[in-house]
Amino acid sequence: MLQRCILRPYHVLAMVLCVSAGEDFDWTKNERTSFYYGTFPTGFSWGAGTSAYQTEGAWNIDGKGMSIWDAFAHKKGKIVANDTGDTSCEGYYRFKEKYGGWQNVSMVNHFNDFANLCFERFGKKVKYWITFNNPWSIAVEGYETGEHAPGLKLKGTGAYKAAHHIIKAHAKVWHTYDMQWRSKQKGLVGISLTADWGEPVDITNQRDIEAAERYIQFYMGWFATPIFNGDYPQVMKDYIGRKSGQQGLGASRLPVFSPQEKSYIKGTCDFLGLGHFTTRYVTLKNYPSGLGDSYFADRDLAELVDPKWPDPGSEWLYSVPWGFRRLLNFVKTQYGNPMIYVTENGVSEKMLCTDLCDDWRMQYFKDYIDEMLKAIKDGVNVKGYTAWSLLDNFEWDEGYSERFGLYYVDFRNKNKPRYPKASVQFYKRIISSNGFPNQREVESWKRKAVETCSSSNQLLAADPLIGHMEMVTEIVVPTVCTLCILLSAVFLMFLLRGRI
Ligand SMILES: *[C@@H]1O[C@H](CO)[C@@H](O)[C@H](O)[C@H]1NC(C)=O
Ligand SMILES: *[C@@H]1O[C@H](CO)[C@@H](O)[C@H](O)[C@H]1NC(C)=O
Repeated sequence: MLQRCILRPYHVLAMVLCVSAGEDFDWTKNERTSFYYGTFPTGFSWGAGTSAYQTEGAWNIDGKGMSIWDAFAHKKGKIVANDTGDTSCEGYYRFKEKYGGWQNVSMVNHFNDFANLCFERFGKKVKYWITFNNPWSIAVEGYETGEHAPGLKLKGTGAYKAAHHIIKAHAKVWHTYDMQWRSKQKGLVGISLTADWGEPVDITNQRDIEAAERYIQFYMGWFATPIFNGDYPQVMKDYIGRKSGQQGLGASRLPVFSPQEKSYIKGTCDFLGLGHFTTRYVTLKNYPSGLGDSYFADRDLAELVDPKWPDPGSEWLYSVPWGFRRLLNFVKTQYGNPMIYVTENGVSEKMLCTDLCDDWRMQYFKDYIDEMLKAIKDGVNVKGYTAWSLLDNFEWDEGYSERFGLYYVDFRNKNKPRYPKASVQFYKRIISSNGFPNQREVESWKRKAVETCSSSNQLLAADPLIGHMEMVTEIVVPTVCTLCILLSAVFLMFLLRGRI
């Protein structure tokens, strides 16, 4: 009996470790506060994102071999309008299929060789290395739905296997850097995960909360939990394991890490890159086994959106700024408050239009960046922000139909000229002020940005095709105005006649 009351020093230590490891995210509290004026910590870094395949072009030049995206995009019917990244923004000039892709475990070593070459060639200059950007999309869209390269549709197994190899490859590259390069090059190696936020439909309903947590664990936790804590999220192991059993499979469709692999993978992240665009409401929905297995059915949930949320661009992209703060706080509580760099955040436009006055994009950046500022106030360790994207570019399976750029690129012109949208001016102001100093100033930024973009719009109108679109409005507006004036005159005439 007495033994139970004795607290030895190692008990205290163990308790402290437990307490510090298990901070809980508070699902029941979601304060949606009004806009917050303030500036980011000194030294906070800012940028705008871009990627090689999406901008470079030059797909077959200078000894470059075929990539899985080259092969995929060259097949008809895979990309909107059968576009390819063959030329894109021609970034290559202006700057001077495969063995089953990630289904094949030999990719782990190939990727490590490639990373090692990069460390050797560029390590003097590059201090922040990201092994993978958005591995969720690589795994799910490349090997489950087949919307992305290499276009495999291995439902219920392909994505899990690809992710398993990607996580191993990431860990291997981190160790390679740690052992061979870190002491000389003094850089950091991280991974960049893309995750939307999942909000319980009813934050007082335990089943909704659990469904929302599953949404996030199957999305970000799938990669983050092994890398920070050593193994897949328990909820993934439980759900996929149970469903595999119901399907009569001998083993779970989710691969298993050996104890050695777990300790090899755990802690292989010097910083976390985070891509974030939107939010979903989530509620429980049971998918009976027998309808065919898939990653999506394994989660047992339904995703909903609020029709009041603005959706200026891509059909999946609703602007829900408060979800960003929730996600950042979730990362803080789940993974021991890691150093975070936001690697992608931005919004596209729906129309194939040429309006450089992108009011909705300025609003999106303003509100999302403000929620990031609030998250920093909450104690989240966000060190930098990269807007997506610098240029309009080849938007993967959507081809050139969705424009995320701060700069408009005229792809029909062979010189691929770039034009700044209003958001360039606006984002410049945020960067030079390192935040939002006060209301009066912030409100003037938008006004000034819109003034400059109107004149650039005229520049663009010099293009014959775009000029035609402008001409239509030029004809329609004066015609409608003239008609209005004429009708008023006739009306006035009748009125006056009556009086006389
Ligand atoms: C893309 O290619 C497919 C197959 O050749 C064809 O059926 C389809 O019409 C093409 N789409 C466009 C927009 O050219
Ligand atoms: C896996 O990749 C290797 C090359 O590294 C290749 O020889 C092998 O055939 C591939 N396996 C499959 C199943 O495609």
